[in-house]
Amino acid sequence: MMRRVVRQSKFRHVFGAAVKNDQFNPKFVAIIIEASGGGAFLVLPLHKTGRIDKSYPTVCGHTGPVLDIDWCPHNDQVIASSSEDCTVMVWQIPENGLVTALSEPVVVLEGHSKRVGIITWHPTARNVLLSAGCDNQIYIWNVGTGEAMISLEDMHPDVIFNVCWNRNGSLICTSCKDKAIRVIDPRKETIIAQNMEEPMTVHEMDTSNGVLLPFYDPDTNVVYLCGKGDSTIRYFEITDESPYVHYLSAYSSKEPQRGMGYMPKRGLDVNKCEIARFFKLHERKCEPIVMTVPRKSDLFQDDLYPDTAGPDPALEAEDWFEGKNGDPIPISLKNGYVPNKSREFKVVKKNFLDGKGTKKSENSSPKSEAKLEEILKEIKSLKDLVSSQEKRIIKLEEQMSKIAI
Ligand SMILES: *[C@@H]1O[C@H](CO)[C@@H](O)[C@H](O)[C@H]1NC(C)=O
Ligand SMILES: *[C@@H]1O[C@H](CO)[C@@H](O)[C@H](O)[C@H]1NC(C)=O
Repeated sequence: MMRRVVRQSKFRHVFGAAVKNDQFNPKFVAIIIEASGGGAFLVLPLHKTGRIDKSYPTVCGHTGPVLDIDWCPHNDQVIASSSEDCTVMVWQIPENGLVTALSEPVVVLEGHSKRVGIITWHPTARNVLLSAGCDNQIYIWNVGTGEAMISLEDMHPDVIFNVCWNRNGSLICTSCKDKAIRVIDPRKETIIAQNMEEPMTVHEMDTSNGVLLPFYDPDTNVVYLCGKGDSTIRYFEITDESPYVHYLSAYSSKEPQRGMGYMPKRGLDVNKCEIARFFKLHERKCEPIVMTVPRKSDLFQDDLYPDTAGPDPALEAEDWFEGKNGDPIPISLKNGYVPNKSREFKVVKKNFLDGKGTKKSENSSPKSEAKLEEILKEIKSLKDLVSSQEKRIIKLEEQMSKIAI
């Protein structure tokens, strides 16, 4: 006898929807753009994710195309970028976003001999950043001092496709062109698992396109698979028991996605029972897609929102390099996440991210200090002038476009 068993899951009825641009929080969305000559990316406050004006200021310090960007999980104003120019750069974005182009990184991390395609911040240790280059090497940096503390050589015979940290950042997992998946203890510089031969489960999918971008939510055990060049997001729930993977549903739209971004959980609107938010990249547009569980009640839905990783790091870079581990510090989403306004990068030792521009020479005289003060004042007034002129230009352009119609 055949019986269809419908598995109970609160995520069975998750639905996706493209939304209008009235979203906010945590703060920004960043998008790599193709700029002639150098490499650049855009940083947009979240409420600006509609059509992107050509004149919008960019982050533009690299001398080759930008290949990857990653927001610091512990500071919503800080983002890292990697490039074909073999460098990694770290940027501090002004509180309210860019008014003028940003070409001065806080720190440049040099060491790779070929282009750097992958960067990823440590999930729980402050100022720890991993980079993987086409030289098949992985570096792990203390961004606060600009030093490469760990270098993993001779582990990958071919191009590294992707690298990710486990939840508390004690291990990394890489995928490589040689078709092997490696689990690596980066501080012991050893491969602890490789070439898992038998998959736990296999799920056939009716997707003709190649690359699937996975986004895993460890709080709810839902994995979202976004096909690149496809127009679908499929989602599955993962459980500990066979068959482990349970298809939930799919969201489809007309236009294929060129890329996809995933919002940290603390940026979700819990009042609307939003359980995930994606940013779908079009030609010159960035469209938010919201995954929602339909609920009748207006009350906070505890079962949908277990505590999630908060923005505070569990430990400092130095602790982690010395061998300590720390699990993510959980926060409740009950009252929505409110970012700390005056969140500053804390310094343990010499930290480029704080000391910039205020470095004093050791034998500075009162006279040279006064001079410095004067120059800083002038720089500030020039910056203000540029910013006010830019606003004026935008206004005039708006007027012009109205007349042109
Ligand atoms: C970190 O994660 C690893 C692997 O999941 C686990 O074995 C270890 O106990 C965790 N350590 C801490 C301090 O949370
Ligand atoms: C955030 O703000 C709260 C309240 O002002 C404060 O107690 C907390 O320590 C702050 N967290 C950080 C990381 O600054």
